[in-house]
Amino acid sequence: MPGVGLMAETTTNEALVVLWLLAFSLFLFTLLLLPLLSHGTSRNTNNKKSSPFDFLKHLQGCHKGDNVSGIKVLKSYLEQFGYLNYSHSKKQNHANDDDFDEPLESALKTYQLNFHLNTTGTLDAKTVSNMMMPRCGVADIINGTNWMRSDNKKHDHNHGSLHTPYYGFLPGTQTRAMSPVAQAFQKWAANTHFKFSRAQDDTKADNKIGFQSRDHGDGSPFDGNGGVLAHAFAPTDGRFHYDADEKWSVGAVPGQFDLETVALHEIGHLLGLGHSKVQGAIMWPSISPGGTKGLDKDDINGIKALYNV
Ligand SMILES: *[C@@H]1O[C@H](CO)[C@@H](O)[C@H](O)[C@H]1NC(C)=O
Ligand SMILES: *[C@@H]1O[C@H](CO)[C@@H](O)[C@H](O)[C@H]1NC(C)=O
Ligand SMILES: *[C@@H]1O[C@H](CO)[C@@H](O)[C@H](O)[C@H]1NC(C)=O
Ligand SMILES: *[C@@H]1O[C@H](CO)[C@@H](O)[C@H](O)[C@H]1NC(C)=O
Ligand SMILES: [Zn+2]
Ligand SMILES: [Zn+2]
Repeated sequence: MPGVGLMAETTTNEALVVLWLLAFSLFLFTLLLLPLLSHGTSRNTNNKKSSPFDFLKHLQGCHKGDNVSGIKVLKSYLEQFGYLNYSHSKKQNHANDDDFDEPLESALKTYQLNFHLNTTGTLDAKTVSNMMMPRCGVADIINGTNWMRSDNKKHDHNHGSLHTPYYGFLPGTQTRAMSPVAQAFQKWAANTHFKFSRAQDDTKADNKIGFQSRDHGDGSPFDGNGGVLAHAFAPTDGRFHYDADEKWSVGAVPGQFDLETVALHEIGHLLGLGHSKVQGAIMWPSISPGGTKGLDKDDINGIKALYNV
């Protein structure tokens, strides 16, 4: 029957039109949504990648004689880690300007020497990427002692009688951090003459561990996500702080920092060690996310030299 055929055809056409309309509106919808989605994604990537050390990227290639906005931040970076001290030079008024001067070049060369880079005195690409690595907040040069150039044996720090076996946690410390910290203490104990245990009463512990954010009253403010990860004070202070704004993990997790690895490093400071020039050592100043690290022969030798054992 022709009529039926026509009706069927009409229905098919109507269905096609509806399908087309549906497809078209889906297309429009996607078109509208796409910028929103990609904006969201790029914002996330930016958040993930942004670090307090990002300013260094814009300074790549800088050298003596340059006057570029951001050099003063480079100066404060090198001051923070012990490489630069304008207060004892005649140029102390230059600490806060963007002039790439002689003291800055000399500080940069020392930095390059410490990190096994070519001592060009120029902020070359390798130096920039090295300086951008997340790191410990403790300085590499303390009171004129460049820990990364000198042999630990040459220093008589006289901590032979140090007796600080009890550790505890600050109120509010995440429970998941406690076991990695305990394991780090046990690793040091297994390789040295020290014995450590958790204090019955956290408030009476010799070594107090916790998470802190930004300025937290000990004169060494943290810097938010990225940059400085943690710090600890030399004997017999006993304070060891993680930066609460980092992404912490138990074990190796991509983009995160292993609690135990960082604890091993910071306990080294609690025991009196400074930073090591040996990249494989736990006392090397910087660390990449996503990995774990243990004690090295260099770390054990450092302790043995420090305590004369
Ligand atoms: C560096 O540049 C700033 C701004 O352009 C200027 O005020 C300052 O005098 C310059 N310093 C030197 C040492 O040239
Ligand atoms: C910088 O040098 C002055 C004078 O020598 C000294 O008092 C000060 O402690 C030094 N600062 C640092 C961070 O080493
Ligand atoms: C140092 O410079 C030499 C020669 O220019 C180059 O081959 C080498 O890769 C550089 N090393 C570092 C760590 O930048
Ligand atoms: C630097 O030396 C001074 C004086 O000897 C001392 O009070 C201070 O604690 C030392 N600083 C560090 C970080 O060891
Ligand atoms: Zn350190
Ligand atoms: Zn602190």
